[in-house]
Amino acid sequence: MRHLMSPLDFSVEELDQLLDLANDIEKHPDKYAHACNGKKLATLFYEPSTRTRLSFEAAMMNLGGNIFGFSSAASSSAAKGESVSDTIRMISCYADICAMRHPKEGAPMVASAVSSIPVINAGDGGHQHPTQTLTDLLTIRSLKGRLNHLVIGLCGDLKFGRTVHSLVRALARYENVTFVFISPEELKIPSYIKEDVLESRHIPYREVERIEDVMPELDILYMTRVQRERFFNEEDYVRLKDFYILNNKKMKLAKEDMIVMHPLPRVNEISVEVDKDPRAAYFRQVQYGVYVRMALILTLLEVKVC
Ligand code: NCD
Repeated sequence: MRHLMSPLDFSVEELDQLLDLANDIEKHPDKYAHACNGKKLATLFYEPSTRTRLSFEAAMMNLGGNIFGFSSAASSSAAKGESVSDTIRMISCYADICAMRHPKEGAPMVASAVSSIPVINAGDGGHQHPTQTLTDLLTIRSLKGRLNHLVIGLCGDLKFGRTVHSLVRALARYENVTFVFISPEELKIPSYIKEDVLESRHIPYREVERIEDVMPELDILYMTRVQRERFFNEEDYVRLKDFYILNNKKMKLAKEDMIVMHPLPRVNEISVEVDKDPRAAYFRQVQYGVYVRMALILTLLEVKVC
């Protein structure tokens, strides 16, 4: 039985197969409409979510399966003091697979150690968000046609943004990917990522503060929200929240075929005027998230569709 804690749990070859499956689902959704008949997905969300939880639920429904779960710690027995380990032992009796989001780093890993069903990490604190990364990889491969030979700018809260942490790990495995980290001093990418993931493998990266300086060289601009819930004080958040606002004027500096991605939710970091730009890919990204989660559920449940 397999779980998904980090995007690196899949080899590059396995990832290719998963993304191929997602592309086939996109082309032939009817073929998969009953693939999970009678199966149940539990969504255990101890932290707020719109897209991740609903896209998991939509994915399972598109496969003909059933769903149940909770969307906040307050509405589960966590409020009574039940541990994650006890909850997952019990959920294992009800469901065939589960997706868990938790504010504490490592909580889904703890669950996977005692679970008798596959556990998917749907975001653990400021650590990792592997299914957003699968979504991002499918989006990049579908819209740019490749996962190698890319210059990607990651902008915003690179310190607390778990989607960035997972995406950098995943893209670092492909040839000739250059990372440009765009953030204020206080929200820089953690040094463990620079040292363990990039420097140890001689992968090129740069750190800059001004988005305008690097815009013309980017193939992808990955914008992120300042993660208010992970700040220790509100004052710092207020000072940093509007540090970057992508607008049409800045988009003029970019390549004709650059794409703008964002895991969403957006707050102020992308002005709504950019939504009409054909290079804005963040809503298409949401659709890819459903296909890739369908592919992931089929893979972890070992369901084959001919
Ligand atoms: C992200 C998350 O939860 O980390 N959202 C998502 O799942 N698409 C990004 C964020 O909350 O900023």
